Amino acid sequence: MPQSFTLEKNSNIVILTGAGISQESGLETFRDPDGIWSKVRVEDVATPEAFKKNPDYVHSFYNMRRARHLIAAANPNDAHMALARLETQWPGQVTVITQNVDSLHESGGTQNLIHMHGVHSKARCDHCQHAVPWEGDMSTATVCEGCGDVGGMRPHVVWFGETPLELGRIQAVLVACDLFVSIGTSGNVYPAAGFISVVQQIGRAHTVELNLEPSLGAALFSEGRYGPATEVVPSYVDEVLATL
Ligand code: APR
Repeated sequence: MPQSFTLEKNSNIVILTGAGISQESGLETFRDPDGIWSKVRVEDVATPEAFKKNPDYVHSFYNMRRARHLIAAANPNDAHMALARLETQWPGQVTVITQNVDSLHESGGTQNLIHMHGVHSKARCDHCQHAVPWEGDMSTATVCEGCGDVGGMRPHVVWFGETPLELGRIQAVLVACDLFVSIGTSGNVYPAAGFISVVQQIGRAHTVELNLEPSLGAALFSEGRYGPATEVVPSYVDEVLATL
């Protein structure tokens, strides 16, 4: 913790996470050299237009991803666990905003969590917006439990060109935050990539980036710690808790 910065005991902490925090749980990131976007094109699988044009292909991609997340990523890693520990032990409010559609924060014990890009563990109907928990495969023949239509069921994830979830709640926590920590995100995708600028313009929060390498927005943070999430996150959480 730099000398110039004092964290009060009732400070609000906001943490933004991205794919890098789940990489050591066996999940691929998006933009690393072997990442998902090196294997499939965004415009073929992650836009409403792609779903309209080729729903079978989009379903097969998400069926594969959902299965992989449920099987390979059953276990949160030390970084997810450290954030849950911070939430339990810190006297002020701790909010985790994740871009990830895996469920590793909640299985690690985080409770105050915003899934701004949705989750693999739910499906929803494009016709009536009814959302339901989902584990298995989905197809154009899947019937919506809400309206009984076929062809509308889709992954409950936010695609490019769609509005992220819970932006009002996110704005409220960013405005009130005293410590903003960004973990495992490359800073390519807005609005999440712009949260650091929002916080910086408000001017009250200390800002920290924890990542494998400096992200696109690294220069905007007050400080950065670089290395694998399972090392830098627990160590930073220990540092914050040591101020109590
Ligand atoms: N520990 C910490 N950071 C890591 C690790 C690790 N073990 N492995 C990779 N990283 C870092 C990378 O260096 C990179 O900066 O995590 C970041 C991952 O960046 P992206 O792959 O771009 O993932 P993310 O920022 O979450 O992507 C944002 O884009 O298409 C999408 O919707 C998708 O939510 C996602 C959004």
